Amino acid sequence: MSSHSPPNISIRPVIEADLPTLYRIRTDPRVSVFQFRLQASDTLEEMKSRMLETQPKGDFTYRYTSLVANEEVVGYSTQMLYRGNGQLHCYSGWNVDPEHWGRGCAREGLRQVLDELFDVHKVQIFIADCFAGNARCLRLLQRLGFRRGSIPWLERLQTAWSFRCGHWIMRWYMTPDDWQRERNVKQLFG
Ligand SMILES: CC(C)(COP(=O)(O)OP(=O)(O)OC[C@H]1O[C@@H](n2cnc3c(N)ncnc32)[C@H](O)[C@@H]1OP(=O)(O)O)[C@@H](O)C(=O)NCCC(=O)NCCS
Repeated sequence: MSSHSPPNISIRPVIEADLPTLYRIRTDPRVSVFQFRLQASDTLEEMKSRMLETQPKGDFTYRYTSLVANEEVVGYSTQMLYRGNGQLHCYSGWNVDPEHWGRGCAREGLRQVLDELFDVHKVQIFIADCFAGNARCLRLLQRLGFRRGSIPWLERLQTAWSFRCGHWIMRWYMTPDDWQRERNVKQLFG
């Protein structure tokens, strides 16, 4: 569906200079409508201290990755790593600057994020949630080869309550084997 050829995307850990751009993206109404509602505590300072702190917090390790196109930060991905049922999980989210939507920035950037997580960090299950009405994100998840998962009712209720979220949330996941299959197909057919 994209009319533009994908830009030359690279990824790197978020650095302090990226934060004003990432905060602008997160608070853009075109983006925030597809994310949990912003709280009064969601300030640039809070984002800075959260994203620049890389020490594990209890059982969770957080990673923040900038998506860069031609030296311009165009988006980011957040990743929370934790062990569940003996397996290393990664729960991830991402946002792209609306001025760059539809050019393949998320697709190309997330391919690199997935390579890194599965190959380097040996993640065993990669999980992403998405509001049911988010057509762009749903298209992206399907293009990358995610599979539909389910959310336990108790977790649904807790999320709805704690984030004051009235949206229906869809869960998607990917395993290392799924991702390897996607890479094989891409290598064969482009
Ligand atoms: C979802 C989001 C990250 C996608 O970023 P992006 O860089 O535009 O994504 P891509 O260009 O790689 O892929 C988007 C796909 O949606 C398609 N698309 C664009 N508008 C669409 C629409 N209205 N309906 C359906 N698909 C649409 C694009 O054509 C593209 O598909 P294609 O690769 O088959 O051509 C971005 O739109 C965004 O930040 N949205 C707001 C926040 C959000 O939803 N975050 C994710 C929630 S976890």
